Amino acid sequence: MKLGVNLDHVATLRQARYRGGKKASARAEPALAEALHAVERAGAHGVTLHLREDRRHIQDEDVWMIKKESRLPLNLEMSLAPEIVQIALKLRPEEACLVPERREEVTTEGGLDVVRAEARLKRVIPLLRRRGIRVSLFVSPNLDQVRAAASSGAEMIELNTGAYSDAGTASARKSELNRLMKAGRLGHALGLRINAGHGLNYRNLGPVLAIPYLETLNIGHAIISRALQSGLEDAIRDMLRILRAP
Ligand code: PXP
Repeated sequence: MKLGVNLDHVATLRQARYRGGKKASARAEPALAEALHAVERAGAHGVTLHLREDRRHIQDEDVWMIKKESRLPLNLEMSLAPEIVQIALKLRPEEACLVPERREEVTTEGGLDVVRAEARLKRVIPLLRRRGIRVSLFVSPNLDQVRAAASSGAEMIELNTGAYSDAGTASARKSELNRLMKAGRLGHALGLRINAGHGLNYRNLGPVLAIPYLETLNIGHAIISRALQSGLEDAIRDMLRILRAP
């Protein structure tokens, strides 16, 4: 099983200070390049960035920097907005995961409605594939969506584990896991490669590994949160050491 690490929230923290016309330099903290090198040293298999239309975290310079610096494949999460599609065509990430995007949402909510977006997808997917970009569609574990994804020309789907992660009871979680397993099985039977992600953390990940044919899990928030929590004490000690120095 492969792990793609989503670094959006490193940029979220950086942009909390650098916004409103104040441009983050390469040295701005936390530095995305440092985070990339940690992902590489830790042995993860890929790095994911979501260049949102409102640029709330990842900036255009970031995707170019990561593409240049990374030894790992870059998965660009992106909407179908023409401006973003043009950037992807120039950038040529190894993979593009097409997601729905609404400005008012905190993070990507729900999957792509592949059935409704069919015409646009059939225009955009060949453009991306012609540039050597593998295309994945972020979909809910809904069998109609999986069927539509299979006939869209995409190579992969990323199953949205958001409903599983949000399930409030053991039985709801079990039923969401069942939907994910069925969608994984159908996707594979229709020739799609299967990834999954959204809302996964250190507690809820185990059962997800049972989804058949799963190749890559894309995880962000839980990893960045743990990094903050486990690193905070050392960061304070380092500062105190300087304060105490004569
Ligand atoms: N996959 C997709 C398509 C996403 O939109 C996100 C969130 O940016 C993730 C995976 C990662 O989700 P999380 O940050 O909850 O691990």
